[in-house]
Amino acid sequence: MVSKEELKNLLRELRSEADITRVREKAREFLEDVDPRVLSLAEQELIQEGMDPEELRKLCEVHLKVLSIKEEKPEIESAHPISILKEEHEVILENLEALEKTMKRVNASESFEQIGKELEVIERIAHILIDAEKHHQREEDALFPPLEERGITGPPRIMRMEHRDLRQRKKALGKLVDEHDTLDYNDFVKRLRELEGYIVPTLRAHISKENNILYPTALKSLEEKQWKAMKEEFDAIGYCCFTPRR
Ligand SMILES: [Fe+2]
Ligand SMILES: [Fe+2]
Repeated sequence: MVSKEELKNLLRELRSEADITRVREKAREFLEDVDPRVLSLAEQELIQEGMDPEELRKLCEVHLKVLSIKEEKPEIESAHPISILKEEHEVILENLEALEKTMKRVNASESFEQIGKELEVIERIAHILIDAEKHHQREEDALFPPLEERGITGPPRIMRMEHRDLRQRKKALGKLVDEHDTLDYNDFVKRLRELEGYIVPTLRAHISKENNILYPTALKSLEEKQWKAMKEEFDAIGYCCFTPRR
């Protein structure tokens, strides 16, 4: 098993290394068997030692591509908080794919008249993404606190930061579509492209970090009674319009 110190050195190296291919080779050999808990702790210590969380966040995206984190599929029932969050992730990912496809059609068009159908689709997707705030709120208010109490503070901090940045963009997307008829077509498309270009990759990477690092860390760290309490908090906070039936 890779030690925390070895992992920290590799993360530092990834930051300074321009030749990703070379590092990737090295990382593969090195990290056949990485424990997500150790990765979380390593990242957290780097923040405590002064690495900028913004930088670590970018790094997080790089190392997710580089490291082969063993996907663990523990047996959890469908009403388990992590099952609910992961199913919601699936719906969010489907909508991101739809947004990306719709954007391609918008890019090939030249006027509002040509994109009537696309505008409806984007409006629907923006509504779903904004409604996903309940998902992020459950993570922030029910999932992160017991992890933070256990000393796992780095990953939740990065996730909160991403929620905040995404929230602004999702709201801006909804507003842009609502107000499109007050705008010049080219300005509208430019702004739409910027928002889509931020939201799609950032939210995809966010979900990947949660599915592959944060959730496995939580499953290994929390106890049965904490999951039960969390499910009650989930019920109190509420679900998204798209949460599958539990
Ligand atoms: Fe999240
Ligand atoms: Fe999430």
